[in-house]
Amino acid sequence: MRLVLSMLMFVALVGVGYAQTGGHQFVGVAKCKTCHKKPEQGEQFKKWQASKHAEAFETLKSEESAKIAKEKGLTTPAYEAPECLKCHVTAYDADASMLGPKFVKEDGVQC
Ligand code: HEC
Ligand code: HEC
Repeated sequence: MRLVLSMLMFVALVGVGYAQTGGHQFVGVAKCKTCHKKPEQGEQFKKWQASKHAEAFETLKSEESAKIAKEKGLTTPAYEAPECLKCHVTAYDADASMLGPKFVKEDGVQC
């Protein structure tokens, strides 16, 4: 019984610790690239790089975006507006502890 209880305590404590330190992180494309860039593996990084996801943040700096932001009456440029960033940048408002060492927000919609 004692053993079972202490095991339960252990699981609970590890669980809490995990949640508090944010156990999971946004690692960013740089991390996935390490294994997913070779032709024999499908060149996923290159494909992502050529996709609109990779440009989702830069897009917010375009004239078109400035126009949309104006029409919507935003008080900040599109590339600073939470209204746009929430879909155009992965983890745009995540706590710093949630971001891996290689995570770059300007990479747009990523890993
Ligand atoms: C340490 C190397 C490594 C890293 C880093 C890595 N992967 Fe993978 N990934 C693999 C391998 C190996 C496979 C193939 C596994 C298999 O064939 O069953 C795979 C498979 C996948 C698949 C399934 C592909 C399919 O056709 O079913 C996806 C999706 C994927 N990885 C996404 C990611 C993402 C997103 C990241 C970054 C967050 C990432 N991987 C980081 C090695 C890695
Ligand atoms: C609910 C999610 C969401 C929000 C919020 C959002 N977008 Fe988008 N946006 C998308 C998606 C998804 C696409 C890609 C659609 C497609 O290619 O079919 C896109 C595409 C665009 C494009 C076209 C990019 C291109 O190269 O074709 C522009 C410009 C754009 N968004 C600007 C904005 C601006 C400015 C805001 C804020 C006012 C905004 N978006 C808010 C999801 C969103």
